[in-house]
Amino acid sequence: MRLTTWLLRSNNLNKMIDFYSQFHPSPLSIKHFVDFGMQACEKKSYLFLRQELPVRLANIMKEIHLLPSNLLTMPSVVLLDDWYCMSFDEILQFEKLDARPQTLDRFCDSLIKIRNRHTDVVQTMAQGVMELKDSYNIDAQTEHSIQYFLDRFYMSRISIRMLINQHTLLFGNELNGRSDRISHIGCIDPNCHLVGVVYDAYENASFLCDRYYLASPALEVTEVNKDAEGSPIKINYVPSHLYHMLFELFKNSMRAVMEHHKESFPPIQVSVVKGEEDICIKVSDRGGGIPRSQTDLLFQYMYSTAPQPPQSPEPHTVPLAGYGYGLPISRLYARYFHGELSLLSCDGLGTDAIIYMKALSAEANEMLPIFNKTSSKAYRTSVPMGDWSSHGPQLRHMSTR
Ligand SMILES: Nc1ncnc2c1ncn2[C@@H]1O[C@H](COP(=O)(O)OP(=O)(O)OP(=O)(O)O)[C@@H](O)[C@H]1O
Ligand SMILES: [Mg+2]
Repeated sequence: MRLTTWLLRSNNLNKMIDFYSQFHPSPLSIKHFVDFGMQACEKKSYLFLRQELPVRLANIMKEIHLLPSNLLTMPSVVLLDDWYCMSFDEILQFEKLDARPQTLDRFCDSLIKIRNRHTDVVQTMAQGVMELKDSYNIDAQTEHSIQYFLDRFYMSRISIRMLINQHTLLFGNELNGRSDRISHIGCIDPNCHLVGVVYDAYENASFLCDRYYLASPALEVTEVNKDAEGSPIKINYVPSHLYHMLFELFKNSMRAVMEHHKESFPPIQVSVVKGEEDICIKVSDRGGGIPRSQTDLLFQYMYSTAPQPPQSPEPHTVPLAGYGYGLPISRLYARYFHGELSLLSCDGLGTDAIIYMKALSAEANEMLPIFNKTSSKAYRTSVPMGDWSSHGPQLRHMSTR
């Protein structure tokens, strides 16, 4: 099936994918996005995107084709590959078109169409991996390649959506006069009020938690701002990205607290701290922690200790946990602008999760996957063998000469 799709695809399209994949994506900083958004020149944005989007798409499309062949033939992955080809082809239509008003309008419409087409990419890819795991025994090498690929694939998707959102929000008619977005520059809030986002994410997670457990832990927030005593911490950031990370962390903490305590539920404590280099948000729970034997698995896609949610949930039954995508995707959002997300746990007590963000928006550069020899090699080299003794006694044949 896969081969047919590949053959049907025009030779020209393959050549263009090869061509654009030779260029490296150009990472932008939050400051750059904001400065550009203040001048908001649609023509400049068009000229940049009609080059940059095919580059980002082609770079990741080349990696899709390096996936283990049994994953490439899974129906969901074939579908996904087709979406990427269609979108790549659509943007190429603008390759030689001058920036006339009509062309600019059509470009904006195409971007919206592409964004809608790719809405379900995360679920579809996850479905493909699940299909693979159901049909084959996965060896360590395949597992390693898939983890490596998914981090890069989802990161690429975050970055492409960021570019599309900036353009369509700045130059399209999507806002329809919504006043909450007037202070935003595209999807960036230059004065993103961190504690406000903490409360939003907490409220929505506790709504879910209440539905499952009929109760939820309280929230305690502390703000530490060395620069300006008493004033709320505001930074230049994408509130929806921060919300995503916090919502996932709150859901995890709430589930842990509710499962670990049967009667009174210790509050979740959040510290929002402005340092010189980093802005940190620490979410601490008393949910019993995570054993060290599990820590390497936390950021693995599909690692979850929750029961698997139903295949096609009703819109009103969003699960509190169960897909095993919460932490790995949240870490990508943190890393996207050169931040980080780390978990530190004390087995038997609780977990601290820390989101790090760059304090200076000029340093908050996009982190983007690049297709090159090193990345290609990662799909072929085998998982390194351990060179330290592993735990537990090992039966070993000893020579007794
Ligand atoms: N604060 C925490 N306390 C205890 N265990 C945790 C905590 N955070 C994460 N975990 C463990 O890590 C696992 C993976 O978390 P992750 O958020 O990635 O997936 P999930 O919560 O199981 O599913 P979902 O994709 O719906 O978030 C959880 O199933 C849980 O076992
Ligand atoms: Mg989770």
